[in-house]
Amino acid sequence: MCGIVGYIGCNQAAPILLEGLTKLEYRGYDSAGLAVCDGTRIHVSKCKGRLKVLSELTKGGETLKGTLGIGHTRWATHGAPSDTNSHPHYNTNETIAVVHNGIIENYNKIKSRLCEKGYRFQSETDTEVIVQLLDRYYTGDPLAAISKIMTKLEGSYALGIIFKDYPDELYAVRRDNPLIVGVSEEGNFIASDVPAILKYTRKVFYVENGEIVRLTREGTQFFNSDLEHLAKEASIVEWDMAAAEKGGYEHFMLKEIYEQPKAVKDTLHPRIKDGKIVIDELNMNEDDIRKLEKIFIVACGSAYHAGMTGKYVIEDLARIPVEVDLASEFRYRNPIYPKNTLTIIISQSGETADSLAALREAKKNNCRVLGIVNVVGSSIAREADNVMYTWAGPEIAVATTKAYSTQLTAMYLLALHFAWIRQTLDRDKYDALLKELLSIPGRIEDIIKKNTTEIQYIASKFVAVRDCFFIGRGNDYSAALEGSLKLKEISYIHSEAYPAGELKHGPIALIEEGTLVIGLLTQEKLNKKTASNIVEVKSRGAFILSITCEGDEEADRISDLVIKIPAVDRHFTISLSVIILQLIAYYIAACKGIDLDKPRNLAKSVTVE
Ligand code: F6R
Repeated sequence: MCGIVGYIGCNQAAPILLEGLTKLEYRGYDSAGLAVCDGTRIHVSKCKGRLKVLSELTKGGETLKGTLGIGHTRWATHGAPSDTNSHPHYNTNETIAVVHNGIIENYNKIKSRLCEKGYRFQSETDTEVIVQLLDRYYTGDPLAAISKIMTKLEGSYALGIIFKDYPDELYAVRRDNPLIVGVSEEGNFIASDVPAILKYTRKVFYVENGEIVRLTREGTQFFNSDLEHLAKEASIVEWDMAAAEKGGYEHFMLKEIYEQPKAVKDTLHPRIKDGKIVIDELNMNEDDIRKLEKIFIVACGSAYHAGMTGKYVIEDLARIPVEVDLASEFRYRNPIYPKNTLTIIISQSGETADSLAALREAKKNNCRVLGIVNVVGSSIAREADNVMYTWAGPEIAVATTKAYSTQLTAMYLLALHFAWIRQTLDRDKYDALLKELLSIPGRIEDIIKKNTTEIQYIASKFVAVRDCFFIGRGNDYSAALEGSLKLKEISYIHSEAYPAGELKHGPIALIEEGTLVIGLLTQEKLNKKTASNIVEVKSRGAFILSITCEGDEEADRISDLVIKIPAVDRHFTISLSVIILQLIAYYIAACKGIDLDKPRNLAKSVTVE
């Protein structure tokens, strides 16, 4: 989604803003722009395309003089990507400039009213109504104008605002869209995400919904919408620049695939004490856990796929009924919450608009909410009753890998912990499963070492493939969903995932000579069934690549190619098979020369509905 950076300090703003925006490129964007105030005027430079184009246009920022400015990378929602629709947007007199993340839902209504009052609009964006509305209510006091427009705007926004009349002040405000403030010796910052300002500071304030910020060269002041002063405490960001750099890898995605053993270990180990799982942050006592009647797991995209695995393992091990929902559906479906229900929201960014709305829906229904979140201090982390962090570190590539793997880990931890408390597992079985779980990081490492060369070769064979099907049963189906999403989002190959038993009910009509079918066979009890489905598609011309556990000979007989993963307990095989699927998707996309850290049309953190 869009990225915002703002700066006020003693240095030239434009180069700092450009540099900050490059650190937000991973969020996905199609145009970019800067507004800088030189003390007497606000100068805007903006254009469609990559930051490189903006950098050339402004000679690396040199043409925009001034020590106060705002910058933006836009991911088009209202109006196509174009120079005019890019942010920042001006009011007609060019005395106020605004950058905006989010969507103004009532912008048409506001626009019509402003047009009746004689306002004229340049762009098709919802953002331009914000700056014109500010113009309408501005009578010399920026804070008063900002608090007034907050009563008029519906939807979500994070805004960076500068006023020509106030060359020593930078303003920001948010509702349902992330925004942080960073403070440093070099000056003060606003940003939509930490990497943009990490070079200058780790000291940040998380701006809460409805808060307005005034930044000067000397410091920052926070206000509520009634313009009362707020006292806020700064947080220190733990991770450093190196964690957000490519470190010699060709792409962030590959770096993050390689970081998975550590990410999983970091999520697992702090929660094991004296041979038992201890999840203090759950804040549920044994009685609370025993009484659980139902769990909802709600998430989007890959996080939803991790939730599906959560359902399989929690139901199977702890015998608690689990419903998994896509957040965009859950928030509107009016679910029934039995008395002792836990809603788990899974999110890497902690800012996904639908997941956040689902969280609020559950809370409105007095349901306890547990957030499984990667980004510390994000909205979901702050609003959930309790947070279990996945310690994957910063994930920059748009396509998630390491965060997803840590989400799976969180699911296993919860399943085993609940099972132990509810006594649905005896001590021997519990110990055996925990031992297997602890072996996962090492096994992921082995898979990456052992299989990469073979996968590079296989990927080179599949570059020209047009359609691909992923099939599996049980937990293998959830791996199929994730493998299919990875492939389509970064390689642009059409792919679909099906429960293997469902093929005959329609999709098999699409199988023809040479169609690639990737079969997942890691669930011993289900493998024979999936194998029959594989034979069915093979006899219709499909090319079969199977992923199975060492020791399974059946797959060799029915497949064109087989990749084997170590045989681990069936609950955890997905943590291994998915590494193979990530590498296949990565190397196919890399062979196609795709800019796979920033795939087309996609954004890292989906902060609009
Ligand atoms: C796919 C991917 C997305 C995210 C989804 C949820 O590779 O990354 O499908 O999983 O947008 O995002 P978070 O986890 O930030 O809520």
